[in-house]
Amino acid sequence: MRIAIIGSGSGTNARALCSHARDSASTYQVCLVISTKASAGIMGVAEEFDVPACVLEYSETFEQGVLEALLQHRIDVLLLAGLMRHLPMSIVQVMHGHVLNIHPSLLPLHGGKGMYGIHVHRAVLAAGDSVTGATVHVVTEEYDDGRIVAQDQLDIRTGESDVELQERVKALEHSLYPRAVDKFCAELAGRAFFEQNR
Ligand code: GAR
Repeated sequence: MRIAIIGSGSGTNARALCSHARDSASTYQVCLVISTKASAGIMGVAEEFDVPACVLEYSETFEQGVLEALLQHRIDVLLLAGLMRHLPMSIVQVMHGHVLNIHPSLLPLHGGKGMYGIHVHRAVLAAGDSVTGATVHVVTEEYDDGRIVAQDQLDIRTGESDVELQERVKALEHSLYPRAVDKFCAELAGRAFFEQNR
């Protein structure tokens, strides 16, 4: 499967995904990185792994730009990795069921609008939860609501700060996301999006 990664963060998940694709018999290859910011760490990851990359900032032409890039690179599966807004509906609809997201909590807990990055870990601590984790799910029209592909969890330590928790959840994500993508792509085998819709 030909995958693209879109994000605007530090790019640690993108690095884990690229590394897994390069170093193992994975079911996917990373063919495109899209960043919503020129300064985002994910751009450095693309360079490090020699993956074609483009910057598409949020603007009136964002949706069209993403769709054109996906078509040009014949992308079968789009992976969200640190995208801080909901993916525009037109992209979700065109890619129908071929978009995954990683979220830093055990969905359905602590998802929805405004729940991203450190805000999620603060909500988990404020709720007094004893466990948290990360979830890979299919992206649908609703926030953080699609079918769960995989989840991993960890115990919250007494007195742990939001930043410490974020760091430990990210480490969990780096093994979870490549594994979940492999599983998802294996399920899709023979149903490559681009081949179907050409
Ligand atoms: C990750 O923790 C990911 O789960 C989270 O953003 C971080 C991106 O880090 N995504 C969300 O909160 C989406 N709602 P990265 O840029 O280092 O991969």
